[in-house]
Amino acid sequence: MKKQVVKLLKPLLDLDEQQIFSVLETPPSREQGDLAFPCFQLAKHFKKSPALIAGELAGKLSAENLAAAGFSKVEAAGPYLNFFFDRQQLAEQVLASSVRDQLADYQIGANKTVVVEYSSPNIAKHFKLYHIRSTMIGQALANTYAALGYQVERMNHLGDWGTQFGKLLAAYFKWGDDEKIKADPLTELVHLYVKFHEEAEKNPELEEEGRLWFKRLEDGDEQAVRLWQWFKEESLKEFEKIYRLLGVTFDHYLGESYYGEKMEEVIEELQAKGLLEESEGALVVRLDDYNIPPCIIKKSDGASIYATRDIAAALYRYERFNPEKILYVVDQRQSLHFQQVFAVLERMGYEFAKRCHHIDFGVMKIEGEIGSTRKGKGVLLNEVLEQAIKKAEEIINQKNPTLPNKAEVAKAVGIGAIVFNDLKQHRTREVNFKWDEAFNFEGKTGPYVQYTHARICSLLRRAGDMEIKPVPHPFYEQPLVWEIIYTLYQYPSVLVETVKKDDPSQIAKYLLDLCQLFNRFYAEERIFVDDQDEQRAKLALCRKIALVLRHGLSMLTIEAPEEI
Ligand code: ARG
Repeated sequence: MKKQVVKLLKPLLDLDEQQIFSVLETPPSREQGDLAFPCFQLAKHFKKSPALIAGELAGKLSAENLAAAGFSKVEAAGPYLNFFFDRQQLAEQVLASSVRDQLADYQIGANKTVVVEYSSPNIAKHFKLYHIRSTMIGQALANTYAALGYQVERMNHLGDWGTQFGKLLAAYFKWGDDEKIKADPLTELVHLYVKFHEEAEKNPELEEEGRLWFKRLEDGDEQAVRLWQWFKEESLKEFEKIYRLLGVTFDHYLGESYYGEKMEEVIEELQAKGLLEESEGALVVRLDDYNIPPCIIKKSDGASIYATRDIAAALYRYERFNPEKILYVVDQRQSLHFQQVFAVLERMGYEFAKRCHHIDFGVMKIEGEIGSTRKGKGVLLNEVLEQAIKKAEEIINQKNPTLPNKAEVAKAVGIGAIVFNDLKQHRTREVNFKWDEAFNFEGKTGPYVQYTHARICSLLRRAGDMEIKPVPHPFYEQPLVWEIIYTLYQYPSVLVETVKKDDPSQIAKYLLDLCQLFNRFYAEERIFVDDQDEQRAKLALCRKIALVLRHGLSMLTIEAPEEI
């Protein structure tokens, strides 16, 4: 409809299409109109007050032209020119189309690629809470970019390289027990790693052994590589269990180790460009112009480091995919690291450094016992997920004990509660997970959205095989109903906003609003009425709400069971 407004106004104004398009606003309430064109910036040009211009423009738009463009009327209100949609026409258009049809006009990513790097846990360690945030924010962004036509490369930058693996190998040779590792790999490997640090405090020579083993690993020592590979395989098995549970997928598992061979090239390139300096035996790139500390490229003992691997990874992504954007969905605590990496790329002369974005987020805390830290363990994500599924099961047993596929629904609701709670507010804010709050079926929660969706599905089941069609009906013009249709119409713009801001909470908040509108409607209106046309109109509305809820939840990687 914005495009229609542009078409109507273009012949009357000395502005190009983009200038008109970009200033169009949504008036605060539907009574004031559905799209507004503010006339402020025209005042200078026409040497008239904005209100006068708005009035004149309103007079110049003929009723026929407006109707042909899908508007019922236009009104000047102060400095604004307010357009009112033809409600019958838009209702039919919105309610008769699938979400996919609706999105067809919003394929802003056609022929563009975006790399989304997310999750990226460290092997030989447990999945941490900040990894679930990275995982779910990243997956939601990847889903949304894909829905808008982008080619998305979903990338898991596993933490599978670094001096810590030298320490782990040293510990393994001293105290390792293969049977124990096989029984519970991550716990046992963490155990070895923690023991290494405890012992190293008493015996500093251990540190040297750790360094030696990492050197051997970097040099391709067969025994070291074989063990490292084993630890990695066992870790991936654990991570994949979690990904399966969460419905998360990747196109590429390219861990830090992948960039091992590319490191020398990076160092040579930095050298050739005259960017490397020696500092206390290490090689660094100074970043004084950026007012940040130098980026260390190579340590004094010759070992490669995290930042260097990230520079190699960025170059690799750029060369392989030529993406419009590279998103790094990583914890706030690493923001200096990314500033340094991007600044080094810029100093190397890469324009694409500007296309790299650190998508940061705040910490997540989980209430209760399960959140307490056991030595060397921290919060175990799979325990939290299991607990959530159990809790969902208890609720379902109370609410709907005869539900057929209870286990499946409990999984969807339990995980939905955690994921929605993670995504419902701006990602940079801290997340406090409170069990009762996140499972409140009437609160701002995943289960609330899932339950509203299931409720609509049950209405549609009741309608049986009755033909559901958006027939013209005065019903669509009622304020609340029109508000709902307008909200449904806006769904694609919410996805666009989500990728513009790289913020999935736009979708979560939208879903909550839509649920609230539906529940108000459901409380005020009877759906099954004698007037068949009215009933059809109402059911068509319900069906589209359910479709949009389902689609929106899928963007957040949350399932939408048809019955709860
Ligand atoms: N493995 C790291 C961690 O768990 C996160 C990796 C972030 N990504 C990157 N390109 N550095 O803290």
